Amino acid sequence: MSTTEAEVDSLRAEALEALARAGNEAEQEAWRANWLGRKDGRLTLRLRGLKDAAPEQRAALGKSLNQLKTTLEYELEARRESARADALAALSADAALDVSLPGRPQSLGRLHPVTQTMNDCIDAFAEMGFRVFEGPEVEWSRYNFDAVRIPDDHPARDMWDTIWIDTLIEGERQLLLRTHTSPNQIRVMEQSEPPVRVIVPGKCYRQEATDATHEWMLTQIEGLAVDEGVRMSDLKGTLYAFAQEPAAPPEEWIPPKWGARAGEGGARMAALKAPLSPFARRIFGGDRQIIFHHSYFPFVEPGVEMAIDCFICRADGSDCRTCQGTGWIEILGAGMVHPEIIENAGYDSSKYTGFAFGVGIERVAMLRWGIEDIRHFYQNDLRFLRQF
Ligand code: DAH
Repeated sequence: MSTTEAEVDSLRAEALEALARAGNEAEQEAWRANWLGRKDGRLTLRLRGLKDAAPEQRAALGKSLNQLKTTLEYELEARRESARADALAALSADAALDVSLPGRPQSLGRLHPVTQTMNDCIDAFAEMGFRVFEGPEVEWSRYNFDAVRIPDDHPARDMWDTIWIDTLIEGERQLLLRTHTSPNQIRVMEQSEPPVRVIVPGKCYRQEATDATHEWMLTQIEGLAVDEGVRMSDLKGTLYAFAQEPAAPPEEWIPPKWGARAGEGGARMAALKAPLSPFARRIFGGDRQIIFHHSYFPFVEPGVEMAIDCFICRADGSDCRTCQGTGWIEILGAGMVHPEIIENAGYDSSKYTGFAFGVGIERVAMLRWGIEDIRHFYQNDLRFLRQF
């Protein structure tokens, strides 16, 4: 079969158009057999027919047909390549949408054990009518010390080894990282009129030689209640209620109304001695021993410390690292607010009395969960933290 140049052009057009329609591998293979097949491919037959062409046209026509062959081979390969890429893309698009694949578990964080304990303590006190207040961590030394009756030359300043801020104000160091939350007793009273019932949670900092029960950063909750006729028994009642499950509450117990005056439904905190919310019971439960003993803090008179029996040694007389062999772990300092502080706040100390306390939250967490060393809390070891 002989061919003309015009026919070569129309063959090219027809072949390329058919190739464009060959969308999958099978169609491309059929196209190849149809055009380039060895035995009877349409182009193969034309090439074979060259010998019948007029001698003067043969060379030029042979060149055109061979060029067409190269073009078709090249276009076929390109078509196959792009079909493979499309198939791959379709496959991964399908995979991306495979809703039947099991989800990858998202590892959930959780609250730090100290935060959990702090929240539970806040709940316990909030249930008893205490409002939450917050104060600054960078504090004036006049609030941290002077206003709570610890003047410059007072030996009690040694109880709080202070981390000072370098900046001098009027030639003096006046700013520090608060060593306790007690300055907030003053901040609260400056801003409010009695009756006052607040707790102030927050971080405190001390330049401590750390050991099993001392860290340089610690968390406290300060408590303050000032009203007419507040007594030491109210303080004890509140702290027992916080720490320990009491006898079952009377059946028809009505929560005491804070802010009500005596005679108007029982505003006295002593009312809290027996009945208790489940929140407060949570902290230690009823089978732990609690001890109060006298202590000294310049801002209270009298002052006490409350301690819980040591969960490690149960006071077996051994050389326990956690309680230093005393059998007790101190969790808070407390007392009746010094009348001078009441007066400085502008309250009439012949009318108003109050109690204050400062709870060490890490200590509470240690006692709740039997953690023998306070330093675990801030070492960021996930094996420790994931247990809570
Ligand atoms: N601020 C004391 C401390 O950090 C704890 C304390 C003791 C707080 C007695 C009080 C209190 O409110 O009455 O060691």
